[in-house]
Amino acid sequence: MKKISIQTIRGKKNKQPITCLTSYSKTIAEIVDKYCDIILVGDSVGMVLYGMKNTKKVTLNTMIAHAKSVRLGAKRSLVVVDMPYKTYTNKFVAYKNAKKVMKLTNCDAVKLEGGEKITNIIKHLIKNKIPVMGHIGLLPQSTKKFKVKGRSLIEKKKILKDAIAISDSGVFAIVIECVLESLAKIITKNVPIPTIGIGASKFCDGQILVIDDMLGLGDSAPKFVKKYANLNKVMKASVKNYVNDVKERRFPNLK
Ligand code: KIV
Repeated sequence: MKKISIQTIRGKKNKQPITCLTSYSKTIAEIVDKYCDIILVGDSVGMVLYGMKNTKKVTLNTMIAHAKSVRLGAKRSLVVVDMPYKTYTNKFVAYKNAKKVMKLTNCDAVKLEGGEKITNIIKHLIKNKIPVMGHIGLLPQSTKKFKVKGRSLIEKKKILKDAIAISDSGVFAIVIECVLESLAKIITKNVPIPTIGIGASKFCDGQILVIDDMLGLGDSAPKFVKKYANLNKVMKASVKNYVNDVKERRFPNLK
């Protein structure tokens, strides 16, 4: 089994769509690993598993714990771990924390949210051999309103500038979250590295979704998500059947 490298991901630009999903545990990572190029241990874990209203309270230790579990299940995919809010406030803090994540989880790269403002941090990590994935557009760690970005000309220009700035700083790929389709297309054409969209159109070089959303687990998936299963329904029915079997003494079956 050949492990997917950062070079493999870069090489897919303009050739093959890049496939990514989030995972927070070994069990899920084992499944995703068979099919996806990238597994993201996203700080969305705070909202998906811990009931937080945004990602701001997710800690570095929480990310490390979930990334360790994911690593156990991921043998082939590239594993990228989100650096949580306030863990990369300057290049020294960022390096200390990212180094800890890389060392304790054995992941392949970290992801940072932001554009022009964090280029010195990105450059410092890369100079110190920590591969970085970028994240622009809607930035869950700093946004107050979860709405599509890039509607005004000013915002459009800023997001494009951010994309070029972090690409020039050395990130190997960029997640583009919730921007207008036309903007995602322009960014994808103007950077030499792959763009990975979430609610950002088919014009990106790849796609990512939160796995719970696309599997129909929980009830907080954004509108743009295509549901490939309704696991809520399947799991409810299974639990109900089990409970009925126990109550009716059909399980365990001693015969
Ligand atoms: O935290 C996360 O899961 C993410 C994806 C939504 C891209 O950053």
